[in-house]
Amino acid sequence: MNTIANSRFKFFPQLNELRQVKWLSSRQKLNRGVTEEFFDSDSLQDKFMRGISAQRLLPIKEVLESFELFARIRRTTKAPIVADLCCGHGLLGILFALFERDVERVILIDQHEPESRQRLIAVTREIAPWIAGKIDNRVAKISGTDHWVEPGVSVVSAHACGVLSDLCIDIAIKSQGPIAILPCCYPRSACDAPLALQTQFGIETAFDIARTYRLEKAGYRVRWGTIPQEITPMNRILYGRSIK
Ligand SMILES: C[S@@+](CC[C@H](N)C(=O)[O-])C[C@H]1O[C@@H](n2cnc3c(N)ncnc32)[C@H](O)[C@@H]1O
Repeated sequence: MNTIANSRFKFFPQLNELRQVKWLSSRQKLNRGVTEEFFDSDSLQDKFMRGISAQRLLPIKEVLESFELFARIRRTTKAPIVADLCCGHGLLGILFALFERDVERVILIDQHEPESRQRLIAVTREIAPWIAGKIDNRVAKISGTDHWVEPGVSVVSAHACGVLSDLCIDIAIKSQGPIAILPCCYPRSACDAPLALQTQFGIETAFDIARTYRLEKAGYRVRWGTIPQEITPMNRILYGRSIK
């Protein structure tokens, strides 16, 4: 388990102090029952939640994960260009286009494009037409030699499995832009941390300590954070900003 000190819901404070929390990690699609009970205001986020639920587009867990990650990283990773790597449906990047005026372009990259991504972009455009010119949607594998990695590009990623999170770090180090990742799936064979740290703290924590050292060595100041563990036990965020 990767779980560390828990945190409260930030984007959706109405989800703090719930008696029933199991549904917060549900793989069921976000639906009308949930939006009527918890997301029924005229706020932009609630309208967006209702748009996602009307189309039954995404699992509850993935929606809450993206929003709560965004709430914590938006200030530190905001930049004219934000790249959501291994983006899947692309919700994390789309939230930057939706809520951050200063973000001019959001690159969404994944080696596959699930059917939900275009539908999600369309739903977002209905409530926020300004996102149209900002989304740069790509189907591609990421690599440390990617030509699109311009100086200052901000790298964000939710659950880039295993060494894909390390590839995200390579790309950030190349751009020297800010980075925020929520790693998952920690393959022991790829962990650079000393065995003593792996034994003492567990593979997940040791892996993230090694990642932290790598970023700091490359001129980054790194902080750790969390999203609520009720959404996922893989809830550690690594944030970094270059201080060179
Ligand atoms: C666990 S999913 C996370 C998706 C999304 N970020 C989310 O929060 O739901 C990992 C994603 O990485 C993508 N992926 C795997 N290898 C990749 C690569 N080399 N380049 C780009 N995307 C990759 C997969 O297609 C998948 O969508």
